[in-house]
Amino acid sequence: MTEDTHTTHDAEDDPRNRDILIYVNGALKHRDAAMVSVYDSGFLLGDGMWEGMRLCNGRWAFFEEHMDRFFEACKAVALDPGTDRAGLLEALTMTAQANGMTHDVHCRLMLTRGVKVKPFQHPSLSRSGPTLVIIMEHSKPVDRLAERGIRLATVPQVRGLPMSQDAKYNSHSKLNCVIACLQAEQAGADEALMLDPHGFVNTTNACNFFIVRRGEVWTSTGDYCMNGVTRAKVIELCRANGIPVREKNFSLVETYGAEEAFLTGTFGAQTPVAEIDGRQIGSGGAGPVTRQIRALYKAAVEVDTRG
Ligand SMILES: Cc1ncc(COP(=O)(O)O)c(C=O)c1O
Repeated sequence: MTEDTHTTHDAEDDPRNRDILIYVNGALKHRDAAMVSVYDSGFLLGDGMWEGMRLCNGRWAFFEEHMDRFFEACKAVALDPGTDRAGLLEALTMTAQANGMTHDVHCRLMLTRGVKVKPFQHPSLSRSGPTLVIIMEHSKPVDRLAERGIRLATVPQVRGLPMSQDAKYNSHSKLNCVIACLQAEQAGADEALMLDPHGFVNTTNACNFFIVRRGEVWTSTGDYCMNGVTRAKVIELCRANGIPVREKNFSLVETYGAEEAFLTGTFGAQTPVAEIDGRQIGSGGAGPVTRQIRALYKAAVEVDTRG
């Protein structure tokens, strides 16, 4: 990655992250000593589910929404977490307290089918219960990204149909997205803009995607992309604040011609898009609607985490 390359997950360097404690199946380990088995189904096959969440004001933003998605995905792939959402909250609290973390924290909560007795695919080979890992880092997205915006390239890799690997799975295996990201990098962009199987603009490799046209906010129908918690919040906030919002099919022609474009995700909230396939979008930075939505979202996180 060159100095000029940016990703939607760029964070300010925080030296405290060099000595964080990681939760591994109930134990807290220094990051250099936190390990899972090479027989773990997450390592062998990408067979696991995860959630990215933010800790603000000592509370996890939109915790119930994240848990709804997580438990739904686990149920669909018969992955028994061996605990309920209160148990997960306890593990999260234990990790946050051990690290002295309360604010501007990002976590990746990961659950795999656990250690296998042999290095093969069959789920029945995982016999010792799931592996639960929580990585928490001090994390503040870089300010310059919020203003300067990200450069996207449309890539050949498309989003799949739900009967192959449903995009609603936040699975450990993200190879479809990784391939897209590689293709974008090869095209000289920061991240990938992915189309759906019909050629409509769908999502990026790591975030949901929105455009603004004549004051209206558009995003994909929701098919083929991650059911992003931030995406849902943005739609809800638009509706509650009189900003016209539509979930619809649209093409690259309408995307290149948009006044604004932005991405959504738990890590970066709303990240403006500066350029797509070498074409500047709007003014090439955060436009007025993106700024307004960003302010509304920030306030919603405050309300949610301050109670
Ligand atoms: C492919 C993809 N799209 C979008 C998102 C954003 O989802 P959320 O807003 O829930 O963080 C994620 C986050 O995991 C993702 O992996």
